[in-house]
Amino acid sequence: MRGLFITFEGTEGAGKTTQMDLLAKRLRLNGERVRSIREPGGTAIGEEIRHLLKHHPAGRGMDSETELFLINASRAQLVREVIRPALAAGEIVICDRFYDSTVAYQGHGRGLNLEVVQSVIGHAVGETHPDLTLLLQVPLDVSESRRAARMTGGMESGDRFDEAGRDFFTRVEQGFESIRQLYPKRIRAVDATDSVEIVHENIWEHVNPFLKDPIA
Ligand code: TMP
Repeated sequence: MRGLFITFEGTEGAGKTTQMDLLAKRLRLNGERVRSIREPGGTAIGEEIRHLLKHHPAGRGMDSETELFLINASRAQLVREVIRPALAAGEIVICDRFYDSTVAYQGHGRGLNLEVVQSVIGHAVGETHPDLTLLLQVPLDVSESRRAARMTGGMESGDRFDEAGRDFFTRVEQGFESIRQLYPKRIRAVDATDSVEIVHENIWEHVNPFLKDPIA
């Protein structure tokens, strides 16, 4: 039986990684086999591409079209090497970002033609689509301060994406909102300003009905 494909989306600073970890832990406690991955990355090839996109000096001055293709090259590998085999083996795949990020960042944010973006994504993923997408939402000010902390050398150093201005991230957020309105059944908005525990419970309410044996 095919497994379940869940993606986490949203702008920076919404606590995606923390929530992914909590969800994976709870699913495993319930006996599920879980595969946690991230984009760009998740394979040896993808992690190299991720480095080029985020931190490598050669990435400076990267063209938006190049960015679009690199992200989708990483995705094409991840889909074929990891996601499809895991789903075929009945696993639950949880992915930190997937193609909605491309529509939001490269389409709405960078301003690339949305039909072109969709077409490139289509080549990368084929028939592999998420069953459920959790869109974690925080006000722009929260993600701004998180990014500012990274840029000044907080827990992790900033990356090439962090260098984009506030207007870019406003467009990204609006992009996520318009995608959510297009796919209300698949994409569930989660208010990520609540406590970690409450956000996790809200996420669980969305995920539970998708399980083979939902927990009462
Ligand atoms: P993150 O792992 O910190 O979220 O870093 C990934 C960065 O890559 C983030 O700034 C968003 C960006 N990104 C895109 O621009 N397009 C995409 O399709 C994906 C998956 C990520």
